Amino acid sequence: MAEKSRVLVIGSTGSIGKFIVEASVKFGHPTFALVRESSLSDPAKANIAEGFKSLGVNLLYGDVNDQESLLTAIKQVDVVISAVAQQQVAIQDRIVAAIKAAGNIKRFLPSEFGNDADHHHAVEPAKTVYATKAKIRRLVEAEGIPYTHVVSNAFSGYHLSNLSQLGATAPPRDKVVIFGDGNAKVVFNTEDDIGTYTIKAIDDPRTLNKIMYIRPPANTISMNELVSLWERKIGKTLERVYVPEEEVLKNIQGSVSAECDIGSTPFCFRERRPSQLRD
Ligand SMILES: NC(=O)c1ccc[n+]([C@@H]2O[C@H](COP(=O)([O-])OP(=O)(O)OC[C@H]3O[C@@H](n4cnc5c(N)ncnc54)[C@H](OP(=O)(O)O)[C@@H]3O)[C@@H](O)[C@H]2O)c1
Repeated sequence: MAEKSRVLVIGSTGSIGKFIVEASVKFGHPTFALVRESSLSDPAKANIAEGFKSLGVNLLYGDVNDQESLLTAIKQVDVVISAVAQQQVAIQDRIVAAIKAAGNIKRFLPSEFGNDADHHHAVEPAKTVYATKAKIRRLVEAEGIPYTHVVSNAFSGYHLSNLSQLGATAPPRDKVVIFGDGNAKVVFNTEDDIGTYTIKAIDDPRTLNKIMYIRPPANTISMNELVSLWERKIGKTLERVYVPEEEVLKNIQGSVSAECDIGSTPFCFRERRPSQLRD
């Protein structure tokens, strides 16, 4: 039997990174997780790292900004998966440079995990994030690095744990705010499934130098349909408050402050959800 590819996940403690690490272990790949040593002072991150260790993951201390640590990590593996946050998408040129210098990587999956960076209808500031992801795509192609781009669509844990209600920590039980007419279809995938599809792609010749779209028909659903499902589950009809698309767009524009750009706070990222749901 062919030896399993060795996998390095950069951004391993992140909201999608940890699922990719777990899937990699589950499917028998020798798995390496790059972790910033400084992050381990955060108890939640330290907990994730401990969980990795108990799964047999090789923890490597490093940072995308530290080329030596990147090179050391990359030289130990066959596949590099980046799941760095959107704020770090631009500095993935450093990962590309390290992969090029190492010369041993048979597949690179840059941090995508959203809509298709080359085909979307996002408005600012999400538009700039996609432009940056597209720039990394072009760099990877120009360098001749074998790649797969994972277009995972929306993370269901991230968006549906509060039924896409801004600022809420649980799904609504009385009133639900719906952007637009609520009929636009969105593809939701669980983070667990995205981790699995991502790992299944790394050795698949069909995904070599391709975009892999994860869009199961059963996971493609409108906000109106989602609310109806939730109502059925809790046995209660919610008051539906519709915010017209023009108003949503105006609100997004209003929330884009001077510092709310690609290197901005999570608050700005959350504020941009409505624009992403339009894709
Ligand atoms: N489709 C969707 O619904 C959706 C939702 C959210 C995100 N996304 C996309 O998914 C991708 C990952 O985002 P995320 O939200 O999962 O990220 P995240 O949870 O913020 O995690 C980011 C990870 O990157 C690591 N990191 C940050 N700076 C680093 C550096 N200099 N060197 C090495 N590692 C570094 C962090 O490590 P530390 O622990 O050390 O900080 C963390 O593990 C992005 O492309 C984002 O646009 C998609």
